[in-house]
Amino acid sequence: MSGMVQQLCKVQSCDEVAAKTFLLRFTSSEISASAQPGQFVNVLAAETGEGPLLRRPFSIARVDDNIVELLFHAIGTGTILLSRKRPGETIDVLGPLGQSFHVDADYGTALIVAGGIGVAPFPFLTADLLKRGKRIETFVGYRNAGQILTSYLQNIHIATDDSSKGFHGNVVQLFEPFLDRTDLGKAKIFACGPTVMLKALTELAKRKNICCEVSLEGHMACGVGLCQGCPVERTGDGAKYALVCKDGPIFLTTDIIL
Ligand SMILES: Cc1cc2nc3c(=O)[nH]c(=O)nc-3n(C[C@H](O)[C@H](O)[C@H](O)COP(=O)(O)OP(=O)(O)OC[C@H]3O[C@@H](n4cnc5c(N)ncnc54)[C@H](O)[C@@H]3O)c2cc1C
Ligand code: FES
Repeated sequence: MSGMVQQLCKVQSCDEVAAKTFLLRFTSSEISASAQPGQFVNVLAAETGEGPLLRRPFSIARVDDNIVELLFHAIGTGTILLSRKRPGETIDVLGPLGQSFHVDADYGTALIVAGGIGVAPFPFLTADLLKRGKRIETFVGYRNAGQILTSYLQNIHIATDDSSKGFHGNVVQLFEPFLDRTDLGKAKIFACGPTVMLKALTELAKRKNICCEVSLEGHMACGVGLCQGCPVERTGDGAKYALVCKDGPIFLTTDIIL
């Protein structure tokens, strides 16, 4: 975990950018300098005893100079507290943590597939892929038009469950026919979203013989490999489980069983 720091960081802004979804920007020259796409930070929403004692993990959504951005759904105690942070207040941040996406592999087209708030790590990944001159196609699926987030993404294809925008259906149903009708050359899939979506995508990638890396966002406690609280079953003959926080959150779909 080279470059990992724990520090109190100043919040620059925290705004609702889609339904119950917040963009929080904080300053950290250390984290912004060392973070790689796919890594996450573990944030304590309250500095004192008033809030949850456990840290909450969030993908690094984007880095802009010395600012780090997080995109999150306010769904429970920690994230609601975090959504109320105002500019000038501080948050206690541990990071960057975990493994990053493997962007330097041998492929010409990056296929990004995101479900809901699973879009969070992809603005950062997109910036890196653009620097490397990769072609990028991005598929995002949301419950409805009110939840759509597309900032800093490239060549965006949208699906909504209720047909309020784009394709009517889930993001994998939108993605599969695109694969069939498009000449992509050598491609690699990068995905993040609900487990059911990642399972469907794992099957699809296997059938089409496309390399697929996913970011897992299950429950987590310590975030640094100490509590054993984030196991994921692995394939192969070695250890039966990997830890999402330390060995992941990024995994090749051929290495794990979802
Ligand atoms: C590596 C990693 C990266 C993540 N990145 C992001 C991100 O970029 N943006 C984002 O919005 N979220 C992300 N998450 C999920 C985020 O950490 C949780 O939403 C957050 O911890 C919830 O905290 P809370 O105190 O608000 O909710 P709690 O009060 O703890 O829980 C509220 C409700 O949500 C459920 N819940 C809590 N966490 C999860 C979860 N991870 N998956 C499914 N259900 C859950 C609980 O069971 C409960 O029903 C990430 C998780 C991991 C492990
Ligand atoms: S969260 Fe503690 S080991 Fe992964």
